[in-house]
Amino acid sequence: MMLPNTASGLATLVAVLAIANPAHALLRFGCAQLVVQRLDPLVNPGEIPSAHLHQIIGGNSFNETMTPVEHDLPSLSTCTTCQFSEDFSNYWTAVLFFRARNGTYKRVPQVPNLGFEGTRGGMTVYYMQDALFDYGQASKVTAFKPGFRMLVGDASFRSRQQTQKFRQLTYTCLQERSTRSPETLGFPTKPCPAGIMANIRFPTCWDGVNLDSPTHQAHVSYPAEGTFESGGACPDTHPVRIPQLMYETVWDTSGFNDPELWPPANSSEGQPFVWSMGDRTGYATHGDYMFGWKGDALQRAMDDPCYVNCPTLKTQTIEEQNKCSVPDIVQEDIDGWLTELPGIANSKMTMPMHE
Ligand SMILES: *[C@@H]1O[C@H](CO)[C@@H](O)[C@H](O)[C@H]1NC(C)=O
Ligand SMILES: *[C@@H]1O[C@H](CO)[C@@H](O)[C@H](O)[C@H]1NC(C)=O
Ligand SMILES: *[C@@H]1O[C@H](CO)[C@@H](O)[C@H](O)[C@H]1NC(C)=O
Repeated sequence: MMLPNTASGLATLVAVLAIANPAHALLRFGCAQLVVQRLDPLVNPGEIPSAHLHQIIGGNSFNETMTPVEHDLPSLSTCTTCQFSEDFSNYWTAVLFFRARNGTYKRVPQVPNLGFEGTRGGMTVYYMQDALFDYGQASKVTAFKPGFRMLVGDASFRSRQQTQKFRQLTYTCLQERSTRSPETLGFPTKPCPAGIMANIRFPTCWDGVNLDSPTHQAHVSYPAEGTFESGGACPDTHPVRIPQLMYETVWDTSGFNDPELWPPANSSEGQPFVWSMGDRTGYATHGDYMFGWKGDALQRAMDDPCYVNCPTLKTQTIEEQNKCSVPDIVQEDIDGWLTELPGIANSKMTMPMHE
């Protein structure tokens, strides 16, 4: 995948965005934080609290139970943290913590992605028809249907071999905020001056029938051969080409880069960052999605020739995005120096694997 890895690369990108005349759409937009709490209506519906801490973005109908179809995200939501104001979907990932030498944990702050300065936490969301920097965006995709949801990644994975099952769950060690390569499958092993960007790309083929599946994964698939980026065809079992959904979350690790704060070089502990499910390898990264665009807004947008700036979609300001939130119904301490990660006993913590 071609990604600009310098500030000048990004300047070129921005210039090209202004003149691109694609056949179909690429959406790239910011969504502020809706809430950070231990809820997971996809994997642990109805459980208060759920297994581990998540950051959730999107529509404010988010709740501990969201029964498919019946819980209609666009009609139950009154606001969204996303820039495109017809998008009441919910998107969530794990939350990053720093583990100090004394064994206590501190939540890593976030920093807005390039172009979304002023956004309170959150993520950058993409819906693509072709590879990110394919300005033509010539392929057609079928938008998700009401009630559609999916999960990518596995919170129990702790090895590189396991995570390779999911082709594109990666990290970028930001030398500067515009750094876009290389991407690694595990956590960066050296301090990253401008933070760590977690990249989550979902499968791009759907069985065309099921809105969900018991694993929340079996109803979607990667291309049969090659990749989405290489234009690989969908398998017969999952023939419907859906947009590539991608999340980028930038964790501002810069306050934790002093070597005195990292595990001693002669210890076996490696790097100090840990996901909220107790994973110190980075291989357990995962993303959840519940589709919730209003009416046919997403399909209309995908059929419309636009690249990042899509005039057919209604937008709201970052100030309005930041105002939308939901109450924290779990009400547990997630800030300050914690002796344990919320919901994760220290005895369940896994040591980093060296492979
Ligand atoms: C969440 O669900 C509970 C119980 O069904 C309900 O009382 C509450 O109003 C819901 N919250 C939101 C934000 O929809
Ligand atoms: C543990 O280490 C952190 C980071 O060095 C420090 O801020 C915190 O006060 C320490 N906590 C205790 C109980 O010593
Ligand atoms: C690592 O180095 C420190 C400081 O030199 C020393 O106190 C400690 O015992 C060493 N630990 C190991 C596991 O070698």
